Formats: sequence, structure tokens, C-alpha cells
Amino acid sequence: MAEGTKDAVSSNQMWGGRFASGPDAIMEEINASIGFDKKLFAQDIRGSIAHATMLAEKGIISGEDKDKIVSGLNTIMSEIETGKFEFSRKLEDIHMNIEARLAVLIGPAAGRLHTARSRNDQVALDFRLWVKEELVKTEAMLTRLIAAFLDRAEEHADTVMPGFTHLQTAQPVTFGHHCMAYVEMFGRDRARVRHAIDHLDESPIGAAALAGTPYPIDRHMTAKALGFREPTRNSIDTVSDRDFALEFLSVAAICAVHLSRLAEEIVIWSTPQFGFVRLSDAFSTGSSIMPQKKNPDAAELVRAKTGRINGSLVALLTVMKGLPLAYSKDMQEDKEQVFDCAENLELAIAAMTGMMRDMTIRADKMRAAAGAGYSTATDLADWLVREVGLPFRDAHHVTGRVVALAESKGCDLSELSLEELQSINPAITDKVFNVLSVDASVASRTSFGGTAPAEVRKQIAWWRARN
Ligand code: ARG
Repeated sequence: MAEGTKDAVSSNQMWGGRFASGPDAIMEEINASIGFDKKLFAQDIRGSIAHATMLAEKGIISGEDKDKIVSGLNTIMSEIETGKFEFSRKLEDIHMNIEARLAVLIGPAAGRLHTARSRNDQVALDFRLWVKEELVKTEAMLTRLIAAFLDRAEEHADTVMPGFTHLQTAQPVTFGHHCMAYVEMFGRDRARVRHAIDHLDESPIGAAALAGTPYPIDRHMTAKALGFREPTRNSIDTVSDRDFALEFLSVAAICAVHLSRLAEEIVIWSTPQFGFVRLSDAFSTGSSIMPQKKNPDAAELVRAKTGRINGSLVALLTVMKGLPLAYSKDMQEDKEQVFDCAENLELAIAAMTGMMRDMTIRADKMRAAAGAGYSTATDLADWLVREVGLPFRDAHHVTGRVVALAESKGCDLSELSLEELQSINPAITDKVFNVLSVDASVASRTSFGGTAPAEVRKQIAWWRARN
């Protein structure tokens, strides 16, 4: 931090106790973004090459200067990639670090690169390019996660498990059906990612400081060279807009919430009390004191990552709130949130993909639990409606009495005798036993989107054609 202090400036009276050097060092520290925006070097160089090429095409700079600029920028790209580049905090950010180095490499021609642009449109461009690449990566990662779920769903289309509401056994479902619920969630996340890519696909370069520029630039040319659909339409909005970052963070936050629900289920399922799944050694850890333990750390960390990812969204929303148009330096605080979110979302998706692929499904445990807790009571009520002609409300009441009887005898519904059932409603026949099993229950739910294995297989096929 002492770096940059002017000898003439003594410590500030107000906070001198904390700071050995003058306020200009503090200014440098609060102002500099190079510590994190160096991540944007490749986007910055690509943007500058496209800009210089356009300037030369339009006769704004000479072809000779453009060639020097492009070759200098390529040299800088390899210097940074090979770790030879020396970043300086005095030069504040990635844009000025690269431009200063370009001047050393090619001399006065470097000064022509910044014609008809400003750091305001430059940073908007670099960051958009970065976020776009990250969204494309996220889309591919979600596709792999969905594929893992589709495989498990196919494998377990017939595996019965308890379905829960309020985390209380509700009705039997299949594990395949449960997996497909996550496919729907991650499928929506991926659709949101695609929408965010579509939204941000406009090039900011050429908006300049905020008002545009008097030079005869061609923004459509730079937009095309950089892979954008078209240029942005309002130069004031362009340099003050960070919606693309907010959209990335919102998409990430919703996805993280989905991941956390899955993480929580894995934590619950892998307890000895549930025992529905066994995590692979590759995705669990042991205890240093209790040799019997296998901990679902990866799932717990995915659950926890939701905190910082959602925090990033709230942080940037709050930075942007109330900012007057156009650019304000506040907006420099956008990058760290997005970088941290991206890194952790990637990790969380990758960990979940690995866990889902690797974990052992204990179909025996799921089946045993599926039948417990009178999970087929609704099937009995539906049978009374269908076969005995009772109104559903009466059937519900009769079933309630049957459940109470089973409870008092400490047995399952299917373990009651026909006589016992008939003592509650004499119209019950022995055909009722066909619906009291979990398999019959599951197979009967053939409504669109229901848990019947045949229906789940249809949903798997629908997704396979779209993944
Ligand atoms: N480092 C700045 C940022 O990240 C670049 C833009 C600076 N523009 C300015 N007018 N000071 O936002």
C-alpha cells in the first residue's frame, strides 16, 4: 500500500494512525481494479483489435498504425498468457495497463488506439464478452448435469420410493420421476441462460464516454467482428447498463437454489436413517475421529455456495440501485461479484454432476420406505370412489378409519384382512389388495407428467430429444 506515496504528503490527521502513508496511496488502493480486472485481458485485447481494425477500415487511423497496434497487442496477449507481463497498480486497470505497455512496444502509434472510444464503453465491452463466454460455459455444464439425471432416471424408472410433502411420506413415486423433477428445474435454468445470452448479445463499443463520437466509426462492423448480433442502440444506456451482469447473477442464484435443494436431499438420503443412497468415495470424506463416518461434504458445500452466489446478486443489485445515468465508478464493483459467482457456480454444478453419476441408489431401502407410513391410503380412497361409487369425501373418511385401524394393529394397509376392511365398509372386496401395493399405486398414475414408469419414460424421451 505504501507504493505511490508522495514524500511531500504526510499522513492524514484523521486516519494517519492507521495509515503510514498519505491519502494518495489510499486513493490508489480504492481506485485500482487491476487486481481483479486483469481477468479481462483477452477480451480487452480482442476488443482493441476489432476497434483498431475498424478505425483503419474507416480511414480514421492509417493501415500502418493499425498493423503496429495489432502486432503489439498480440505480443501483449502472449506476454500475459506466459506470465511475463508486469501489472502495475499505478496504471489502475487492465485497459491502461495494456495501453501503457503498447506504447512501450510500438511508440506513438499506441496513442491512436483510444480514438473514438472511452474506458466506459471499453469496460462494458470487455465485461459483456466475459459474461457471454461464462454463460455459454454454464449452458454446456447444465447440459451435462441434465444428461446425468436422464441416465439415472432411465435406470430407475421403475424404482419405487416414498414421495414426500412436508418431508412426510405422501404417496409412492419412482426415483426416476424424482430425478426428472430436477431435469425440469435445470432445464429451466438452461433456458434462462440462453435467454440471458440472447439479451446481452449487443456490442457496446463505440458508445464512447456516453454520447457517441464525431468520428465516422462503424459500430456494426465491430459488433460483427466480436460476434455480437448488433450494436446497442443508446450510447447513454450502453455505458450505464449492467443488466447483463445482473441477469447472469440472477440465473446463477436461481440455479444455486435448485442445487441447494438437491444437495439437501442428498444429505438426507445418505444418512444411515434414510439410507436411500450411498455416496462414492470420490465425493465424500471421512472423519478424523469417527471411523464409521462418510460425510456428504460436497453436497453440504454446494448447499452453502448458495449463500455467496445469492449474496453476489444482492450486492450488485445494491450497487446499481439509485445510480444516476450514465457511468459512475460504483460500477467497477460489478466484476468481483460476477467472478466469484461464476467460479463457485461452476464448482457446484460440476460437483453435483459427479455426485449424481457416482452415487449408489439403494432401491431396496427406497422400496421399504415407500410402503411405510400408509403411503397407498389415497389409492384406497380412489378405489372406493371407482369400485364402490362413494363420493371422494366419504371415501376419504372411510380410508381414514382404515388407516386408524392399521395403526392400532401396528400393521400396513395391505396386511389388514378382508374381514377387518369390511368391518369399516362392507362393500370392500378382495380386489382392493391390487391397489394397496406400492407398485400398483405407482403404475396407476398415468396422467400426463405423473409417476407411472411408462409416463416417466415418455418424459425422458422428450428431454433426450432436447438435450
Ligand atoms: N476500471 C473501470 C471499471 O471497471 C474502467 C472504467 C473507468 N472509467 C472511468 N471513467 N473512470 O469500471
